[in-house]
Amino acid sequence: MALIEITDFRTPGGWTDPQSSTQRSQECCRQLEEGNILFFRQMPFEMPQVDLDFLTGVKQSDSALHKNISYRPKADVLRGAEAAPPEAMQRLHRIMRSYSQNVTAFISRLLEPYAGSFRHDFASFRAIEEQGRDLPLHRRNDLMHVDAFPTRPTRGDRILRCFTNVNPAESRVWVTGEPMSVVAQRFAQDAGLSRLLARASTPAGRISRTLRHVLGPLAGKGAAQRTPYDEFMLSFHDYLKERQDYQDEKQGKLRTEFPPFSTWIVFTDGVPHSVLSGRLALEQTFIIPLSAMIVPEQSPARVLEKIAGQALLA
Ligand code: SIN
Ligand code: FE
Repeated sequence: MALIEITDFRTPGGWTDPQSSTQRSQECCRQLEEGNILFFRQMPFEMPQVDLDFLTGVKQSDSALHKNISYRPKADVLRGAEAAPPEAMQRLHRIMRSYSQNVTAFISRLLEPYAGSFRHDFASFRAIEEQGRDLPLHRRNDLMHVDAFPTRPTRGDRILRCFTNVNPAESRVWVTGEPMSVVAQRFAQDAGLSRLLARASTPAGRISRTLRHVLGPLAGKGAAQRTPYDEFMLSFHDYLKERQDYQDEKQGKLRTEFPPFSTWIVFTDGVPHSVLSGRLALEQTFIIPLSAMIVPEQSPARVLEKIAGQALLA
């Protein structure tokens, strides 16, 4: 697990050496899939200074704009900023739309092998200081975890996130750990992998899954579409946060300070991570199909299937 700084790529120009672009793109995908972070010291795409000024002008005390704000690219909808004056809301909407489009163009060129197949998930503006946030244990971002979305099961596909620190003065501080190929080996059974599969294969387990399919959204948002893999990843997210000895462990962890205006990309379903401090970041999430992976055996679904000795994506 390492931070890999990329110095030979910028959008709209692309790779410095166009001759090796396909090979460099492949290398980047492989590095991400193996649990590394790709890091750009400067923002690798354009963002007007006036937009940056607007974002950095959002005060912690401005309750209308200091929640986590999300942007849904497919519907072109901004959520979480309803309390702000209409002008500020429209401005933020435009900025997030443009960030989302710029990151998408950037990722499509940087990670060419994923370009034709990824799906857009949400983007977010993270304006709350992360240090000292008072949240229930399972929602704390300062505890190491892997990402899993309760309402949007991925069914084995991957969660790729691109972050940009738009704070002009302070770094965003993360800790990352060894990837799923290592942590799953250590903890998946204790976290209940076999128990979950045994339960799922009993008559009661089968009936409950059929029922969830029949009930659809009534069963809970996303619940009907969950595979055993999604169920496990949701519980593994909580398990890691609860495991104090894992949280306290120093070995295998990397503390990274992402400086102002830097950008980083990581598969957050495969790399345990936590954020210790920082305020004002933009982020865009992509769902990359498992079938697009260059090293599929490193993906959480395949790693877990190997440990379990059975399919998890049925
Ligand atoms: C997370 O995905 O846990 C939060 C990361 C961040 O906001 O920096
Ligand atoms: Fe996370």
